[in-house]
This record gives sequence, structure tokens and C-alpha cells, in this order.
Amino acid sequence: MKTGLTDKAVLVTGASRGIGRATALAYAAEGARVAITYHSDEAGAKETAERVAAAGGTPHVVRYDLGDEDSVRSAVASVGAEWGGVDVLVAGAVEWGEAIPRPGRKMPAFEEVPPAQWQRVLRTSVDGVFHTVQAVLPLMRDREWGRIVVLGAGLAETGLPGAAAYGAAKAALHGLVRSLAWEVGPAGILVNEVVPGQTLTENVLAHASPAFLENKAASLPSGRMNTPEDVARAIVFLGSAANGNIHGEALRVTGGL
Ligand SMILES: NC(=O)c1ccc[n+]([C@@H]2O[C@H](COP(=O)([O-])OP(=O)(O)OC[C@H]3O[C@@H](n4cnc5c(N)ncnc54)[C@H](OP(=O)(O)O)[C@@H]3O)[C@@H](O)[C@H]2O)c1
Repeated sequence: MKTGLTDKAVLVTGASRGIGRATALAYAAEGARVAITYHSDEAGAKETAERVAAAGGTPHVVRYDLGDEDSVRSAVASVGAEWGGVDVLVAGAVEWGEAIPRPGRKMPAFEEVPPAQWQRVLRTSVDGVFHTVQAVLPLMRDREWGRIVVLGAGLAETGLPGAAAYGAAKAALHGLVRSLAWEVGPAGILVNEVVPGQTLTENVLAHASPAFLENKAASLPSGRMNTPEDVARAIVFLGSAANGNIHGEALRVTGGL
């Protein structure tokens, strides 16, 4: 299957680690130019960049703050200036809020969630993606071709005590994808959502106990949790020329949950 990604300009937000890093490396293996954003972990982004170059891609590292519209727009502009446009956007950067499980941590009751915390998660994870897509679309329309993949979360459907803000943000992105599909399809731009189940990223491995991870794997039809690479392969397929007309879809990568 041909992905047509050689020398394409791919922007992967949140690629200092985790699924974003695995996605950047998977695009690099297809010969793409890969822009890597980070928020606080510049060293992590530089490590991703080194690995992108080693895998056959061309890296570009840029700081990006989902909660700051100017930062979002200047990050996208920097990729446009570097490579003359953006062909593929993977919107993966996220503000987790309280959604990361930590052994022994008491989740706040819904009525105790500080409104500022709720607003921060929504402002970053929803508004940040809105601003990013707005900034990228003119660059894709210029080329009359584009692929957008937004990262959702299985948790938006299953729920988790204490994770209402994160779940609400991901549900909002699902709605964004559905309506955006109607608007951009005729311009040759396909937009989809990849919905991972819990994935064995550095962050999850650092915070979840071995017993939790073992039980989680046993509860899945496939008998194992996602690796970041499992999710990255689904993203690259939807975010490439291998995807001819899959549009406005949500693809679950959950091990069958
Ligand atoms: N891992 C899972 O189990 C799982 C499950 C379902 C869905 N997902 C979704 O998959 C995507 C990737 O998840 P992940 O687990 O790979 O994430 P992760 O390892 O926690 O990495 C998050 C990335 O987002 C960046 N980021 C955090 N806050 C930011 C902000 N305010 N502005 C800009 N960037 C910011 C981080 O940058 P710095 O490191 O530089 O701060 C990092 O690159 C997310 O959308 C997540 O919701 C993940």
C-alpha cells in the first residue's frame, strides 16, 4: 500500500513523548518531513527529532502551547515558513487534567472540581485544537489536499470517575471532526479521529501499578494493551494517501474493548 508521504509536511502536536513520538517516527519511516511540537519538554522533543532523522525523516522542532492562541498560530506558521505548507496535521497534544490514574490518588468528587481546573482542560484541549485546525486549513487548501487526524479517547465513551473535564473535551473533539468533515471534504481534505484505549506510554507506565496494567490487559478481548506504535500505525494510515475516502470517522484502537 502506498502512503505517498515522501517529503510531505506533517505536523504532529505533542510529540515530545508517547503516542505523538511514536507517530512522528512512523511518519519518518515513510520519508516525511515531521514537525514535532512540545510544551514543557524541549529535551524530549529534541530526542524525537534525532530519532526522526535516524528513521529517514526530516525533523523540525517547535514550541506550542494549546492554551495560547498566539503560540498555536506561530507554531503552525513556523512549519509553513519552513516547508511551504502543511499536508498532514495530527492533533495529539493534550492537557490531561485529572484523567491520569495514579495509584492511591483520590479523584475529586464532581462537585469539588475547581471551575478553573475544568476551564483549563477545555480551553487547552478543545480551544487549542480549534485554533490549530483554523491555522492549518489555509495551508492545506492552497495545496488542495490534506489529511487531519484528531486524537480522541475511549474514556469519552466509557467515562472514569474524576475525569469529566478530559472526557468532555474529547467528546467535543468528536463533534468537531464530524462537522469539519462536511466543510473540508470538497477541498480534498480528509479529517478523522483515532480513539485509543489506554496505551502503554511512558506517562501511563509511570503512573499505573503493574497489577492495574495486568488486570487491564486481561480485561481486553485482544488480551493486551495498546503500544504507542499500535496507535501510530492507525494514525499514519488515516493521515496519508493510503486513505482515499475514509472521512469523518472515529477509528477505535482499543484491543477490542
Ligand atoms: N495514553 C493513553 O492511554 C491514551 C488513551 C486515549 C487517548 N489518548 C490520547 O492520545 C493523545 C496522546 O496521548 P499520550 O498518552 O501520548 O500523551 P502524553 O504522553 O501525555 O504526551 C502529551 C503531549 O502533549 C503535550 N502537551 C501537554 N500539555 C500541553 C499544552 N498545554 N500545550 C501543548 N502541548 C501540550 C506534551 O508536551 P510536553 O511533554 O512538552 O509538556 C506531550 O508532548 C492525547 O490526545 C490523548 O488524549 C491517550
